[in-house]
Amino acid sequence: MSVRKKPIKKVTFRVNEMLVAIISIYILLVSLQMWLLFGTINKALDKEHIDFARYSAIGSVVIFMCTIFFLRYVPDIPTGQIKIHKPKTMTNPTDLLDTFGRKHDYLRLSITDSCNFRCLYCMPDEPFKSTPSIELMNSQEIYEIAKIFVQKFNINKIRITGGEPLVRNDFETIIRQISTLGASIGITTNGVLLHKYFDLFEKCGVKNLNISIDSLDREKFKYITKRDLFQTVWDNIKESIKRGFNVKLNVVIMRGFNEGEIPEFIALSHHYPIELRFIEFMPFTGNSWEKNKVIPISEMLTLVSQHFTYEKVEDHKNDTSRKYKINTESKGVFGLISTMSNSFCAGCNRIRITSDGKMKNCLFGADEFDLLKSFRNNEDLTELIQLGIIKKHKEKGGQFSKMENIHNNDIVNRSMIKIGG
Ligand code: 5AD
Ligand code: SF4
Repeated sequence: MSVRKKPIKKVTFRVNEMLVAIISIYILLVSLQMWLLFGTINKALDKEHIDFARYSAIGSVVIFMCTIFFLRYVPDIPTGQIKIHKPKTMTNPTDLLDTFGRKHDYLRLSITDSCNFRCLYCMPDEPFKSTPSIELMNSQEIYEIAKIFVQKFNINKIRITGGEPLVRNDFETIIRQISTLGASIGITTNGVLLHKYFDLFEKCGVKNLNISIDSLDREKFKYITKRDLFQTVWDNIKESIKRGFNVKLNVVIMRGFNEGEIPEFIALSHHYPIELRFIEFMPFTGNSWEKNKVIPISEMLTLVSQHFTYEKVEDHKNDTSRKYKINTESKGVFGLISTMSNSFCAGCNRIRITSDGKMKNCLFGADEFDLLKSFRNNEDLTELIQLGIIKKHKEKGGQFSKMENIHNNDIVNRSMIKIGG
C-alpha cells in the first residue's frame, strides 16, 4: 500500500477568462466609486451620474459575457488550477487485463482533433468542425489522466496523437508534463511543424517520431493533404533522421493512388535508418472507404518482389507491422500493416483516449467511456477504466471481422481525426 496525494477540490479556470472577469469587476468598482464621488461632491445623485453608473455597469457585464462566449471558440487557452490535496490510500498498480487475457500497457493519447492538413482518408467528407477547446482536455487534465494510467495501471508507453498534435499552442507544456511520468513517449505527426520542436523532444527524451507521408510526388502529396507542403515535411523528415530520432514513415496505400510508389518508398529504407510502414486503407465515418481501394499486404509484397528481393526481420511482441529488409546492407526496414486483411487484434495492447477525454478500447469500437466528465466531477476513474477494458471485444470493436463483409455505412464510429491516429 502506498500513499498518494489526490486533489479533493479542484477549481479549473481559464486564465484569459479570469483576466476578463478581474477587468470587468474593476470597471464595475471604478464606476461605483465615481458615482459615489460625484454624488458626494454634488450632495445629490443627479440623473446623469446615475445613468453613467448604470451604463458602465451594464457595459462591463456585456463585455464580460461576450468575451467568455468568444473565448469558447479560441483554441488552446492556457489553463490554471487551484488544488487542495488530501492524502489518499492507493493500492499497488494493477495490469489492465481484458476478458481475453490481453494486457494493456500502451496508451494512445489524442490531444486535438484540429489539423493543418485535410487528408482524404482521415477527414470526414462533410464540412469539418473541430471541438471547442472547453470540451477538450486541457494540459493539466491530460497530465493527470495519463498519470493515472501510468501509476495505477502500469502503462509504460504513451503516444501523443491528434488530429495534428503539434498545432496545439500548449503542446510544449503537455510534452514537458507527460515526460515526467517515466513512460516512453512517441509522437504521431504530419511533420509540418516538427522543426519547432526538435530541441524540446531532445530535452524531454522523446525519441519516437511517426511521420505521415503518403506520396513522394509533390502534386500527389498536395492532392491527398490539400496542402502544398511536401518540401517542408520532407526537410523535417531528413532533419529527424539526422538528429537520431527513431523515425517511422506512415504511408496509407490506396488502390489507384500510390501503390506504384511502394518501390520508391522502400528504396529510402536502404539509405536511411528508418522504418517505412505501408498501411491498408481503413474505413472510418465519412472517409469514402471502399473494399476495392484496399490493397492487402499480400498484394503489396507481390509488388515489392517485382523490384527487390527481401528477407523477414524479427518482429517485436505487440508490433502491428510485419517487418522486412530489402538486403542485408540496408540501414532501415519496411513494414506492412494488415489491419484489414489480417488483423493483429490477438496481440492488442492499446488503449485510446480521444481529445475530448473519452476512452476507447478499440480503434473500431463504438463504445466510449467518458473519463474527462468523471475527472471534472472529481470522481475516481479506476472503475471506469477497468470497465472499459473488460468490455473490449475480441476483434475490431465487435463491428466486423472479414473485410468482405464490411459495409462502411453500417459501421458506428467516429471519423479518424476525431478518434486519434
Ligand atoms: N486508413 C489507414 N490509416 C489511416 N490513418 C489515418 N486514417 C487512416 C485510414 N483511413 C493513419 C495515417 C496517419 C495516422 C495519423 O493515422 O497513417 O499517419
Ligand atoms: Fe491531419 Fe493526420 Fe488526419 Fe492527415 S491523417 S488530416 S495529417 S490528422
